[in-house]
Amino acid sequence: MSITRQNGHLQVENHSVESLAEQFGTPLYVYSRQSIETAFRAYDAAFPDRDHLVCYAVKANGSLAILQLLARLGSGFDIVSVGELERVLQAGGDPQRVVFSGVGKRVDEMERALDVGILAFNVESEAELERLDAVACARGVQAPVSLRVNPDVDARTHPYISTGLRDNKFGIDIHRAEAVYARAASLPGIRITGLDFHIGSQLTELEPLADALSRSLALVDRLDERGIPIEHLDIGGGLGIRYQDEHPPTPAELGESLAPLIGDRNLRLLMEPGRALVGEAGLLVTRVEYLKPGHRDFAIVDAAMTDLLRPALYDAWQRIEPVASPDTEPRVYDVVGPVCETADVLGRERALALQPDSLLAIYGAGAYGFVMASQYNARPRPAEVLVDGDQAHLIRERETIAELWRGEHLLDRP
Ligand code: LLP
Repeated sequence: MSITRQNGHLQVENHSVESLAEQFGTPLYVYSRQSIETAFRAYDAAFPDRDHLVCYAVKANGSLAILQLLARLGSGFDIVSVGELERVLQAGGDPQRVVFSGVGKRVDEMERALDVGILAFNVESEAELERLDAVACARGVQAPVSLRVNPDVDARTHPYISTGLRDNKFGIDIHRAEAVYARAASLPGIRITGLDFHIGSQLTELEPLADALSRSLALVDRLDERGIPIEHLDIGGGLGIRYQDEHPPTPAELGESLAPLIGDRNLRLLMEPGRALVGEAGLLVTRVEYLKPGHRDFAIVDAAMTDLLRPALYDAWQRIEPVASPDTEPRVYDVVGPVCETADVLGRERALALQPDSLLAIYGAGAYGFVMASQYNARPRPAEVLVDGDQAHLIRERETIAELWRGEHLLDRP
């Protein structure tokens, strides 16, 4: 275990969280290297008998040092913008292990991805296919393409992070996909390589994934009969983590339930996990500024929805615990930030023993934490520290106030 308590004090690997807060200030993101590496290895071992590539979904946490350590483990990357592509390259990632997802790829993004030679474009619409063909032809190359199908299954997760229903904007209706593949096969700038789906995030059941896989495999077989062979199947990401009392399937269980469906088909398997690799590896550490008793008791802390948006945006529940076990009696608090929004809540009705100045740790903050941070209310974004055994690396400095207006210009006319 990478995040533990020693005599009541929270530790990340061999580092006390109190000393990290002391050294780097708060709010502070703290990650465990060991936890990320263990999660990656578990995912990488899920399909032992099959050629496969884990393509970490950069959107979950795109900090360079995190990408670097995953690249060193042999990870590929799932990106959704040229910005994420440049991050991967900057961190030493291999472009030939990059898949490019997203419904709105611009021409310049396609050009750059073609120039560096990515593994595949996950094409999400017919219009995108035509554009990609034109861009590739203009460069005299062929774009490797995997169509993202929308298998129309209910992922049974939060509606905001469910993507595999026909109502969602993602992917190509699976019932149209065969025709779109036929069209793709006729385009000179397109080389069909794969088939892709991603049905949603924070999945806690395997059945919807198995469903999506079965439908996709049926399509692969039909395409094969038509003389359109599929080389790789990309099953997306989505495995959940434990925020509260969920029991998400492990990567091993994922493998055990999906591998028999694929059978002996000659398909390379791609996966795009984000949250499951980094989510549980991270804490957001924050300090109590004020305790405000009243009709409801509020603990006002120095982190806000600007630092961790999930509770405000999705009403997501993330565990909050004092960093040091206190000797006072617990009371029920709403843990809120200083931002001028009623939605600026990190946790509602939490029984916590607190005093002003107490440090709190918010769990499950390694995924969709820092990446969704903003500067609203002119709040510099937090620092990030990666703990590696007894070393703590500052992987991102706390933003400075002056950085808040970098690139802005005052009017020079009176
Ligand atoms: N692949 C595609 C095409 C995706 O859209 C996503 C996530 C992933 C992979 C990675 O999914 P994961 O393994 O992390 O579940 N901000 C939300 C989550 C949004 C997920 C968007 N797509 C949250 O904080 O819950």
